[in-house]
Amino acid sequence: MPTIKPHGGELINRLVPAEQREELLKRAASLKQIRVNSWTISDLDLIAVGAFSPLTGFMDEENYNSVVETMRLTHGTVWSIPITLSIAPDFAATITIGEQVALVGDEDNIVYAILDTTSIYKVDQTNEAVKVFKTDDMAHPGADKLFSRSSTNIGGPIQLLNRPKPKKFEEFYFDPSETRRIFAENGWKTVVGFQTRNPVHRAHEYIQKSAMEIVDALFLNPLVGETKSDDISADVRMKSYLVLLENYYPKDRTFLGVYPAAMRYAGPREAILHAIVRRNYGCTHFIVGRDHAGVGDYYGTYEAQEIFSNFTAEEIGITPLFFEHSFFCTKCGNMASSKTCPHDKSHHMHLSGTKVRGLLRDGQCPPPEFTRPEVAQVLIEGLRDPEYQV
Ligand code: ADX
Repeated sequence: MPTIKPHGGELINRLVPAEQREELLKRAASLKQIRVNSWTISDLDLIAVGAFSPLTGFMDEENYNSVVETMRLTHGTVWSIPITLSIAPDFAATITIGEQVALVGDEDNIVYAILDTTSIYKVDQTNEAVKVFKTDDMAHPGADKLFSRSSTNIGGPIQLLNRPKPKKFEEFYFDPSETRRIFAENGWKTVVGFQTRNPVHRAHEYIQKSAMEIVDALFLNPLVGETKSDDISADVRMKSYLVLLENYYPKDRTFLGVYPAAMRYAGPREAILHAIVRRNYGCTHFIVGRDHAGVGDYYGTYEAQEIFSNFTAEEIGITPLFFEHSFFCTKCGNMASSKTCPHDKSHHMHLSGTKVRGLLRDGQCPPPEFTRPEVAQVLIEGLRDPEYQV
């Protein structure tokens, strides 16, 4: 098995054992119900399979406060983002501490989990937004999401009764126990994890391959949960990853599996979460490039790297690999960063997201120095397909 231990020491498993499932489903039918959306369902699943180890449920008041104020759980383990369940205050008033409640999908009526209530508490959302997102500006997608929820939370350990079913690309969903086994079976002692919510462009490829020079394998682990509406849809991205891997990556040293979480856009704090989760999946290294998990101008270009200096290497456990802003340099004739290229900016190819989107919408491929033509083709087709909102 991989040498790296899960965060907190043990891989959490909150999946109800098969022999208890029927009985618990029966019990759930008699409990009060909290309706949960797809974001919460994905959090539930990530907790249950251990991707969020050492969390065993939604945070109670003490852990919530500790995470918001100190980026640590109450017992000291590093944790940077509150994982919480909000609930309507009137309904919360009917629930007592110690009571079990059923968490039921608001769209499909499926009983996903039972929660053992240990805490019901009110939060200061402005404080949370400022601490976690570094802003309470509603234009920030994470802050906006936070303010759209009730400020009353319910916390406690969960037991998962039903797992969310992927709509597409089911074969790329792996639990941490599975990725750990697969990495070990392949004989990979060191694996670098790569988080993305975008198509893999040449700059991403460059930093991935630079990392691959020093580790055994790459775990391409795109986030496919909820993203903001103008991000490219996960389905189109998955297609683009497949053509890219097929054409440009060594099959025996690359592994594609999704990260079914919602994107928080919390920049530096989310970089810590992303690293910890990849540790749980069995990665020994994790790439943090420019403005990781950022949005707009809320974070400094390298803040998501700098935040790691608040913790010791042992506390984080996984080794972050930091990369500077990368680009194609027309003078060098290759991909580079300011660490390796002596030429001035006029030789560096830079295309804004808006510019790239415009080109793709017009059916034009961005230059091959920016994106592989096979990837561009998938994105162009994705934009034309009414099924996808790109
Ligand atoms: S993220 O929001 O999921 O982090 P994105 O998919 O854009 O964003 O980036 C994935 C990873 O690649 C992040 O670690 C990010 O910092 C890094 N990255 C993206 N573009 C560049 C670039 N041009 N140079 C260096 N690193 C980059």
